[in-house]
Amino acid sequence: MVQDTFDTQRELPSRELENIAETLVGFERHYEALKNHLMVVLMSDRVDEWSKKYYEQIIPLCKVIQQRYPLFLFSGDVGTGKTVTAECAANRLTKEMEREGFLLKLSTRVRGKGLHGEMSQLIQDAFENLTTQAGKRRLSFLLIDEADSIASLRSTEQMHQEEKAAVNTLIQKIDEIRQVGGRAVVFLCTNRANVIDQAVVRRAALHIEFSRPNEEECLELLKHDLQGIGLTSKELRELASLTSAGGHYGDNGYTFSDFRLRFLPEAIARAFPNQGLTFDILKEAALVVKPSPRID
Ligand SMILES: Nc1ncnc2c1ncn2[C@@H]1O[C@H](COP(=O)(O)OP(=O)(O)OP(=O)(O)O)[C@@H](O)[C@H]1O
Ligand SMILES: [Mg+2]
Repeated sequence: MVQDTFDTQRELPSRELENIAETLVGFERHYEALKNHLMVVLMSDRVDEWSKKYYEQIIPLCKVIQQRYPLFLFSGDVGTGKTVTAECAANRLTKEMEREGFLLKLSTRVRGKGLHGEMSQLIQDAFENLTTQAGKRRLSFLLIDEADSIASLRSTEQMHQEEKAAVNTLIQKIDEIRQVGGRAVVFLCTNRANVIDQAVVRRAALHIEFSRPNEEECLELLKHDLQGIGLTSKELRELASLTSAGGHYGDNGYTFSDFRLRFLPEAIARAFPNQGLTFDILKEAALVVKPSPRID
């Protein structure tokens, strides 16, 4: 049963995730925003140490801080890096703390299989696994991806009774993991923060909003991914300007995944196998690959 609950179960630190983080534009910024919050939640004993160091006692504020829920909410448009950032941040923190870690990714695909009734059970299994791993003195991370499918508003008329039960279970389990001595954290990723139940949203220790790359970030990504191709700075800038918001597609610009999973593969497909990539081929590809529609 537990095996079916997860897309992946991964030991941390992972060399693969470390390598992926190096290819992400803006990862360091997101990680810096997250790191201290994660540490406070995951290593509450360090908050006590901090207090003793600066106040020679455990001040009441420590208790207040330790009441926070170990929940992090990542919201934003498709393909903006929510999932990959959660995975890489969990990995980086584990490595920096010189600890062992465990990352579980809860599959929400079950909905597609018509298993609504099992949702609560799946959530329970996931949290049980999380607590077991945390009990082994590991930093344990649960990533609930596409969380809107399980954490959406309970007030909606059409909502199935079993789905309501699933949201209740989720809230209850988030409350419970505060008790495991602060070694477990839940990341919730969603495209639509506005449909997430307020009881879930207000528990988040931190809510990070992700967006499509601006022109500078597009340029950074292109510079990284097109190394060795021999494009000039001017050509790279032109491609960044075409593909970002305000460029060829008006208000809509490419998502990170549009670049990596659609535009660059399209360009390669146009060149391969008889010629190398050129600026003209890349530009042609940019003019045919449209940005993903926005999710509001
Ligand atoms: N900051 C980034 N820099 C470069 N590439 C990125 C970045 N973020 C995401 N990508 C690329 O986009 C792909 C999709 O990212 P990810 O799955 O994390 O997006 P997401 O926001 O979770 O999307 P969805 O809402 O569809 O689940 C990644 O595999 C990666 O190749
Ligand atoms: Mg995702």
